[in-house]
Amino acid sequence: MSLSRRVLLRASQSAWLRERAPRHRFFRRAAARFLPGENAEDALAAAGRLVENGVGAILTRLGESIATRAEAEAVVQHYFGLVDRLRSNGSACEISVKLTQLGADVDRELCRAHLSELASRMPDGKMLWIDMEQAAYADVTFDLFRRVREAHSNVGVCVQAYLYRTEFDVAKLVDEGAAVRLVKGAYNEPSEIAFPRKKDVDENFFRLAQTLLGLDAQRAGIRAAIGTHDLRLIARITEWAAAQGIARERLEFQMLYGIQRAEQIRLARAGYRSGVLINYGSYWFPWFMRRLAERPANVFFLARNLFSR
Ligand code: FDA
Repeated sequence: MSLSRRVLLRASQSAWLRERAPRHRFFRRAAARFLPGENAEDALAAAGRLVENGVGAILTRLGESIATRAEAEAVVQHYFGLVDRLRSNGSACEISVKLTQLGADVDRELCRAHLSELASRMPDGKMLWIDMEQAAYADVTFDLFRRVREAHSNVGVCVQAYLYRTEFDVAKLVDEGAAVRLVKGAYNEPSEIAFPRKKDVDENFFRLAQTLLGLDAQRAGIRAAIGTHDLRLIARITEWAAAQGIARERLEFQMLYGIQRAEQIRLARAGYRSGVLINYGSYWFPWFMRRLAERPANVFFLARNLFSR
């Protein structure tokens, strides 16, 4: 992992920076590229613009590592309100949550109850996605995902290609016919548990995508969402899928708001399922640092914002 990536990922965990940086206008302006705004209204408006272009939306309110029951309750109440709005305006959006937002660090049973209640309230046919956080949360995430899924089949889980364990997790999820979002992984993980070289992560991503789209997965009825902005990987996966005779509408790509916008629309127009995860909220600093860490050029972009006014 490069030094700049390590530094930015460290910064994402700094409570001192999290407290102060968002007050600075230049950080706010730079983050605006990835965030339509701080309120659900901003996210819903952005979702509406995507839908006009045939691109679906998944909404997620920023926030993680919540430390009290009251905060977790407030987050889940926010999501209940959001679901009510989706229902009342007939919006086709899905939702994605982080378990530490719903109280995983406070009380696992409380977190399970929140997840379960939220899944039960989702509009028909709409998925409640669970993000994958640091590797230390992987077991609890799969455990809560499986327990909630016993009663609510509309929960899906994210897996990270940078972890060695993911090959085994994906095999199990395929057997279970689960809904799975495959991503590379955004945290700072040691080489004991994660591929240190990007090349190996990319290769593992391709192999996992093949498993998630392959015959066994199709037979098990899994929903596989390929979460990447990597155009080379997307081309490799679509070419492989075409050679296997997999219909385009069976391939679903998900990206983050503000990244590879043209590709999001191109995929939708070409007949693939294309979705965008829209983050909104005021707790955006750690998340924004992870986005910078993904691409060194983003730091220059930030610097340009700093000096342009
Ligand atoms: P890669 O980092 O190789 O980037 C490929 C290309 O995409 C770059 O060359 C650049 O052109 C563009 N790009 C990528 N990131 C960019 C950025 N920040 N700014 C500008 N351009 C950028 N992670 C996690 O650990 N847990 C999770 O739950 C999720 N959830 C999730 C959902 C969805 C829908 C997506 C798309 C991603 C996530 N992630 C995530 C983040 C994921 O792990 C990963 O960090 C990012 O997607 C970046 O990796 P890429 O696959 O895009 O490839």
